[in-house]
Amino acid sequence: MASKVNLDKSDSPRVSWEKGLARKPRILLAASGSVASIKFGILAESLSDWAEVKAVATKSALHFVDKSALPPSVPLYTDQEEWGSWSKIGDEVLHIELRKWADALVIAPLSANTLAKVAGGLCDNLLTCVVRAWDFSKPIFIAPAMNTYMWDSPFTRKHLLAAQELGIILISPIAKKLACGDLGNGAMEEPSVIDSTLRLALLKTMSFNARVCGKRKWIMEQSAEDENSTVEAGEVRKEHPFRARKLSRCSGALLPVAIFTCLLPPLL
Ligand SMILES: Cc1cc2nc3c(=O)[nH]c(=O)nc-3n(C[C@H](O)[C@H](O)[C@H](O)COP(=O)(O)O)c2cc1C
Repeated sequence: MASKVNLDKSDSPRVSWEKGLARKPRILLAASGSVASIKFGILAESLSDWAEVKAVATKSALHFVDKSALPPSVPLYTDQEEWGSWSKIGDEVLHIELRKWADALVIAPLSANTLAKVAGGLCDNLLTCVVRAWDFSKPIFIAPAMNTYMWDSPFTRKHLLAAQELGIILISPIAKKLACGDLGNGAMEEPSVIDSTLRLALLKTMSFNARVCGKRKWIMEQSAEDENSTVEAGEVRKEHPFRARKLSRCSGALLPVAIFTCLLPPLL
């Protein structure tokens, strides 16, 4: 018997909490099997202050994630829910529902293994299925965390370049004493810095797109009043905050490039 996973699919605006925005950004926050997953709860907590957050963890990440540190508002999904929520044709498929729900995917920490899978398009668990099904007009952020030897490996460079080609935004690791005792680059960026990077990127893009959508809606409503127009006035109301891409290319396309360039380490 499939257990139902309850996802709020309403796209309707709720309270206007931020100037120009109808609702909070929806962040799908994912952890993979790096020791830095011990900080997952802290990151989920701070993102929850300004975003709706749902969490995903890989099987390896569960060795490190402290579930009790997750805020009650943040549900955690694993491969168990992915398979437990499906039993027959017609049942919803969790990775597709999460992919539809989210405005942005944040993988923090990102393990070397999951990075390799993302770069190669492999999809053998809930997280990588979300990535493989992702709508790349919506952003993906990655915050890698691994031992310096792994970080300095030529594989990492190759996989990061593949990620960059997909438009994935890198939040570079930092140098410090790692969990294994080695000193070097590869530690996940501090949750507070990840939080502020996302806050800046997502709220700016969403409020820009909300303004553009509002303007576009007005133009389309004007067009609909015209007898000869074939444009449906209501059409644009369904517009996703990140989908006003054609009009917002100027900010939408430059943002990942700008962030990637700023945060890319000397490695590349
Ligand atoms: C104690 C321990 C710590 C680990 N820390 C890391 C790490 O910080 N970064 C990393 O990329 N892999 C690390 N690994 C290896 C990953 O957990 C392993 O590659 C795993 O398959 C990753 O699975 P996932 O990418 O599906 O989460 C660690 C393994 C162990 C046993």
